[in-house]
Amino acid sequence: MKQYNVGIIGATGMVGQRFTTILDSHPWFNIKVLAASSRTAGKRYEDAVGTRWKLSIPMPDSVKDMVVMNAEEDIEKIGELVDFVFCAVNLSKEETRALEEKYAKAEIPVVSNNSANRHTPDVPMVVPELNPEHIVIIPAQRERLGTKRGFIAVKSNCSLQSYVPPLFPLHEKFGVEDVLVCTYQAISGAGRTFETWPEILDNVIPYIGGEEEKSEQEPLKLWGHIEGNVIKDAEEPHFTAQCLRVPVSDGHTAAVFVRFKNKPTKEEILDIWKNFSGVPQELKLPMAPEHFLNYFDDPNLPQPKLQRNLEKGMAVSIGRLREDTQYDYKFVCVSHNTLRGAAGGAVELAELLAAKGYFD
Ligand SMILES: NC(=O)c1ccc[n+]([C@@H]2O[C@H](COP(=O)([O-])OP(=O)(O)OC[C@H]3O[C@@H](n4cnc5c(N)ncnc54)[C@H](OP(=O)(O)O)[C@@H]3O)[C@@H](O)[C@H]2O)c1
Repeated sequence: MKQYNVGIIGATGMVGQRFTTILDSHPWFNIKVLAASSRTAGKRYEDAVGTRWKLSIPMPDSVKDMVVMNAEEDIEKIGELVDFVFCAVNLSKEETRALEEKYAKAEIPVVSNNSANRHTPDVPMVVPELNPEHIVIIPAQRERLGTKRGFIAVKSNCSLQSYVPPLFPLHEKFGVEDVLVCTYQAISGAGRTFETWPEILDNVIPYIGGEEEKSEQEPLKLWGHIEGNVIKDAEEPHFTAQCLRVPVSDGHTAAVFVRFKNKPTKEEILDIWKNFSGVPQELKLPMAPEHFLNYFDDPNLPQPKLQRNLEKGMAVSIGRLREDTQYDYKFVCVSHNTLRGAAGGAVELAELLAAKGYFD
């Protein structure tokens, strides 16, 4: 496979740190640029991160001495060094949108973790196992931006990456009508650790700003279809969500209640989950899990602590499927929020784009 030089914009942040550990040994992608704000630009990466390293695994030696570039001022120089960038910055939506467009217009494709462009109608928002076909919107986006190579592609919010994948193949066959979901989200999703957030121990926070709206609306773009130059959101299934922050380091859990148009049997659901695989598995993308959807019969599973790292943190773990008194079925699922839900999902999306020639 062809090799690609890549940059990480927001490299010093929590998601940026994850990118360095995933890309350190990546067979196709080589880190050539680490960039962040003017506060850290010019420093060695190890010094720029300082005490902010938030992962339980160590910083890769290969990035420690790289000098952090200025993400806003060095765009032209960065363009000479990389084939595309990953972007994960904590700027406002307007600032993020402007920054991502600047890169795209400088002919540097952007694979983004940020939410700013998720609802831009010609920006594909992709979970590669679910809606890989949405990447064909990219030529229309390039036309709007006036670019030859440059474009923006995004991954969806981390919360829905546990409960949408199990529902996706069921919707195709049985028509998912209504979904009620409660998420129990890890503190790394807020960029925090137990050291920086001791108040979360022995506690639950009942509000995560903006999360319930994302959890209800973003699935409809994943189920959307291309019409002319835009992706039109689907109108169903109907989602209602409550999102809670819980004292877990990594791994979001979701409790799901689902009503179908045509109610399947439990065996039919389990059979679909067992046999589900998508384009990443077909193409054998390096980041793709062998089995995306994994069902556990033990009623004590899945647990974030035990299942979050399944298949490099890229698999979804499901359990406790049973009939419900008000909906048709209920179940529980878990996925790793900074691997499948953030950096890992973005790397898998970049692999899909590379395999389909969008960086050439
Ligand atoms: N944490 C998660 O689980 C998760 C999951 C999915 C998506 N996301 C999204 O990913 C993004 C980053 O999240 P995070 O948790 O990694 O945030 P974070 O730890 O706060 O890191 C933010 C990064 O943005 C950089 N930055 C700030 N201002 C900048 C500027 N003007 N120009 C360029 N870079 C700038 C920071 O650089 P300095 O070091 O120079 O300040 C830092 O590298 C957010 O949009 C978040 O919503 C996070």
